[in-house]
Amino acid sequence: MRVLSGIQPSGKLHLGNYLAAMKQHIELEEKHDCYYFIANYHALTTIQDAPTLVANTRDVALDYLAMGFDPTKALLFRQSDVPEVTELTWLLSVVTGKGLLDRATSYKDKVARGIAASMGLFSYPILMAADILIYHSDVVPVGKDQVQHIEMAQDMATHFNMTFKCEVFKRPEAKLNEALIVPGLDGQKMSKSYGNAVSLFDDAKTNRKRIMSIKTDSTPLEAPKDPERCTVFGLYKLLATPAETQALEQRYRAGGMGYGEAKQMLADVVERLLGPARERRAELVKDADYVEDMLRTAGRRARETARAVMEQARAACGIVTARN
Ligand code: TRP
Repeated sequence: MRVLSGIQPSGKLHLGNYLAAMKQHIELEEKHDCYYFIANYHALTTIQDAPTLVANTRDVALDYLAMGFDPTKALLFRQSDVPEVTELTWLLSVVTGKGLLDRATSYKDKVARGIAASMGLFSYPILMAADILIYHSDVVPVGKDQVQHIEMAQDMATHFNMTFKCEVFKRPEAKLNEALIVPGLDGQKMSKSYGNAVSLFDDAKTNRKRIMSIKTDSTPLEAPKDPERCTVFGLYKLLATPAETQALEQRYRAGGMGYGEAKQMLADVVERLLGPARERRAELVKDADYVEDMLRTAGRRARETARAVMEQARAACGIVTARN
């Protein structure tokens, strides 16, 4: 089964990104044929500064490797190392009604947040469909906000096959990342734009300080506390073992423990995950060639798959090129 997902290189990743997406990507590589790419063409809709895009793209690769992505088990490559996706975007755009894109909620949300309403932003779902269809992907792990885009890719696959009386494209299925809301330091969903995130690669001291600043209620130290209503516990249970979670839950309910102590325990489990990752990342940063080689090798392999599908797609619609 081929699993595919794209990662936007939008800057520093945080614990919410890890728990909601990255962790699952890394786990899936054990059992499936996984293609992950850094969506740098998509990022151009919002990042229009070359050095920033170059740096962010590399950072995603470093972050994935540091958090445990294994390049011997799965592919991690740059979207732009498979330029055929932009060609396929055009072929799909001629069988995609404008009305379909008019209904995209993510476009409307982004424009409402002040992102420029460019044609690129508008046709973002077509590029995304091309990403998915060009590798004959079976399953696409994504968050809830991307499900509509996967449905659009399904529609485009069907329209293309029907229009050109062929079976070139496979119907992909979305796999919803566990409906997991990772609380941020203020109790709202963890998000870069809310400023309530724990970054994956800040130093241990900064992380601990931020964790100690989590807002809690004013239940006195001796009194029993409700773990379900506490952000500290909410984060702890996403990172601790089931036995550790159960133990902390009992201490909340028993009373006699202050939030300060729970925060220290949370900072410890955060550091248990991020400490070794921080060290791995520091090593990787020193070896620029290693990261670049990994991206290129994976890109070449992905491109082979894409080229074969593209040949069929061109043939199906009567595009003759010197290449085939
Ligand atoms: N749009 C996705 C996001 O913002 C990123 C992405 C681009 C993607 N192409 C994709 C995800 C293809 C899955 C499949 O998160």
